Amino acid sequence: MAPGPTAEVWYGLFTLYTSAAIIINAVIMSIFVILLLKYRASKAAEEGGQIDAKKLALVFVVLSAVIFYSLEFYTLSAMDFIETPPEDIDMVIEVQGLQWTWKFIYPNGTESIGTLRIPRGTTVLFKVVSLDVHHKFGIPDLKASIDAVPGQTNYLWVRFDQPGEYVVRCYELCGVGHANMVATIIVE
Ligand code: CUA
Repeated sequence: MAPGPTAEVWYGLFTLYTSAAIIINAVIMSIFVILLLKYRASKAAEEGGQIDAKKLALVFVVLSAVIFYSLEFYTLSAMDFIETPPEDIDMVIEVQGLQWTWKFIYPNGTESIGTLRIPRGTTVLFKVVSLDVHHKFGIPDLKASIDAVPGQTNYLWVRFDQPGEYVVRCYELCGVGHANMVATIIVE
């Protein structure tokens, strides 16, 4: 089970693409083999059988278009879901990225460096800023990330449906401490 709705949508999309790739590959390969057996040059010559290339090409074009636009539609819907904060935000947390740690500011003004505690099932809106250089605030388990840019506020919404400890990482090379720019979100 995915730890939150954004991750669920992400995994859904991943499964969709993987299944589509496997199915399309299987179908193409099958058609290839069938045509190969059915229209062998010797046999075709014997029976005067001819493949209707135009019809086949049309089928492929239409099928490709349907598959392409379906995937496009699902991808854009998923991106929209992940990127648009819902109406019912329970808690707004300010996140400040700085070389090389993450600072969290709770709604009541309490500050915490490197650790954030939130209740399970809470829909959280992170207001992400940077105090120095370009960072990227990311929660790998939730498949969620957003740029932390100086002089700009970016928003990322998440919901943790399962208790546990979640790692926060920096996804933007930001200096010698980049790899150690981690924090923990404790969901209780
Ligand atoms: Cu901050 Cu990399």
